[in-house]
Amino acid sequence: MILNYLYIFFVVFGIVVIIFLILGLPRKKNLRKPSIEGIDDPDVAKAFEKMTNFIPFKILRRRILSELKKYSFTGKLVDLGCGSGNLIVLISKNYPNLDLIGVDISSEVLDLAKKRALENNVNEKIEFKIGSAENLVLPDNSVDIIISSLSLHHWKDPSIVLKEAFRVLKQNGTLLIFDFRRDARKFFYGLLKFATKVVVPKALKNIKEPIGSLEAGYTPTEIKELISKSPFNNEEIEFYIAWMFIKMIK
Ligand SMILES: C[S@@+](CC[C@H](N)C(=O)[O-])C[C@H]1O[C@@H](n2cnc3c(N)ncnc32)[C@H](O)[C@@H]1O
Repeated sequence: MILNYLYIFFVVFGIVVIIFLILGLPRKKNLRKPSIEGIDDPDVAKAFEKMTNFIPFKILRRRILSELKKYSFTGKLVDLGCGSGNLIVLISKNYPNLDLIGVDISSEVLDLAKKRALENNVNEKIEFKIGSAENLVLPDNSVDIIISSLSLHHWKDPSIVLKEAFRVLKQNGTLLIFDFRRDARKFFYGLLKFATKVVVPKALKNIKEPIGSLEAGYTPTEIKELISKSPFNNEEIEFYIAWMFIKMIK
């Protein structure tokens, strides 16, 4: 009995020590290196598609889905930089009443997204549009929710995207952005470098991904400055070890 208590004590103690170690580790202080904007190479698109099936990406999609539960489920949702469509297809299956649009700058990944939607029988519910988040072919005040995951760090000028998002959102419409933060804990950079060696497909390694995306991310200070200069003035930001969630309401 005492041994059982001791065992539980050491396990809990170990977990607490690890959490303190992780949170206490220094953050990287590197200058931003812009990354390539769209995924135009077919091999890179396929490699990226493979990577989005890894567990961290699945956890991220679940996190965004649970955030969406807070909203009303009618109206129009746009996914900016929808990539191969993992998230928007999942949303379509969970919230069939939403009118969905996926926008991406790359035709290669959009082809994969269309295929995914077809395979999941939701192709008639999602409209995929090729184009830039900086120039949305959507009317003013027409969208209820805009989401974007892991795309912000690719945008050439995020301030223009925020203006565009504000323009197309209805009054009280929501913009949800998830992305990496460049000033991640140093151990996260190490972990990602290790994971890159072990599991990341070659086509992505060749373009220095996913480390390139982390290095292209923004810091909390940069994000706050970007939002302060945008038309949005109602925002909540949650910062984590290596990523952040931004919620803005028009
Ligand atoms: C890392 S992928 C993320 C894809 C998807 N959102 C996900 O979470 O799996 C980034 C995507 O953003 C797209 N992208 C980059 N810049 C863009 C822009 N200015 N407008 C629209 N899409 C863009 C890329 O083509 C790519 O598909």
